[in-house]
Amino acid sequence: MKQILLVLVCVACISASGQKYDQLALTPPMGWNSWNKFQCDVNEELIRETANAMATNGMKDAGYQYINIDDSWQGQRDAQGFIQPDPARFPSGMKALADYVHSKGLKFGIYSDAGSKTCGGRPASRGHEYQDALTYAQWGVDYLKYDWCGCEDLKAEGAYTTMRDALYAAGRPIVFSMCEWGQNKPWLWAKDIGNSWRTTTDITPCFDCKLDHKTWRQWGVLQILDAQKPLREYAGPGHWNDPDMLEVGNGMSVNEDRAHFSMWCMLAAPLISGNDLRNMSQETLQILTDKDVLAVNQDTPGVEAFVQPEKFSLEIVNRNERGHRFTIVQPKNNGVEIWFKPLSNDSWAMCVLNRNKDAKKISFDWKNEKVADSFSKREAHFDTTTYSLRDLWSKQDAGDTSRILNAEVPGHDVLMLRLDKI
Ligand code: GLA
Repeated sequence: MKQILLVLVCVACISASGQKYDQLALTPPMGWNSWNKFQCDVNEELIRETANAMATNGMKDAGYQYINIDDSWQGQRDAQGFIQPDPARFPSGMKALADYVHSKGLKFGIYSDAGSKTCGGRPASRGHEYQDALTYAQWGVDYLKYDWCGCEDLKAEGAYTTMRDALYAAGRPIVFSMCEWGQNKPWLWAKDIGNSWRTTTDITPCFDCKLDHKTWRQWGVLQILDAQKPLREYAGPGHWNDPDMLEVGNGMSVNEDRAHFSMWCMLAAPLISGNDLRNMSQETLQILTDKDVLAVNQDTPGVEAFVQPEKFSLEIVNRNERGHRFTIVQPKNNGVEIWFKPLSNDSWAMCVLNRNKDAKKISFDWKNEKVADSFSKREAHFDTTTYSLRDLWSKQDAGDTSRILNAEVPGHDVLMLRLDKI
């Protein structure tokens, strides 16, 4: 049987290469991943219980689909080189686990690395790419996160292309989530390779901090957010910038979790929850499943938000790798950023982000503001068009754009509005 498979692998790799599945991840993928909460402590019971939770707690209804196992599910390779799951942690095997997840109406994801070993020291895919892709397809895997530990002597574009081709040859549509931490600027070359690419180092459940562990670093929400500002024009349906998985429910305050989630929705980021779904607060669940906020993330044109240049702010004009002009706005006054995301049907999402620990008052005079996006070619003319305003978190109508918007935003929190033409 194994020999027949190997022959099939080789036939497949000759006959099909150079493509990625084109109907995948047309809106940002939504799911769960074990890493942020459980790190290497994964087993089949956790995965089954998490699938049960997602299927019944409202997350599946809200659009979450993927149950993804991160690092350390791997055991050894067999005599022919086929990867086996860790027998102590996954005694029933991966096919049975994938079947279980599918039986809940959900999809199943897995993790590997382009090097010889994963970051957690388990066998990875280098030299086994076609074999692994075929194994994943046979198990019924729907999503592969592909990491970058131990790859110093590899070229990222080549390594990720090899796995892209292997997945295509294996014949099962598998979302390909690239995770080389933005080191090789994947936004410049990975549009036809991956369905998403990480843009930074790992996230940590902290709103505003940088952690230096010497051999690796972690960034807080604001640090990751700032790194996304020049990248918006590289993302779109099927190929997303990935500012890393969610830390909602992992220790930040409710305000911070809400701001983190809102901004990931504004960025059209993949929404991969990273908390313990079996045991979370009502506030955490409410944040993760807010349908109005999720609709901003899942809006079909898939355009990322931008910062509205602030009056009296320090505007640093810069150019991205395509030579296109972008601005980094560093608020000189009060650390409040106003973000706009063009939505379908001429609507907009607006998110007022308070980066400070203390509350700030804002006043936004629509008629004096020009909201214009040269990338999506969308403009809002508040002098001639009036938009209704809906507060997406409080579910209140917030008037319309004919009057100045006055609001107070709590520290490390947002005011998130939807603008619809009247
Ligand atoms: C890297 C990735 C993380 C996680 C770990 C697993 O650090 O960036 O998201 O997958 O590896 O070891």
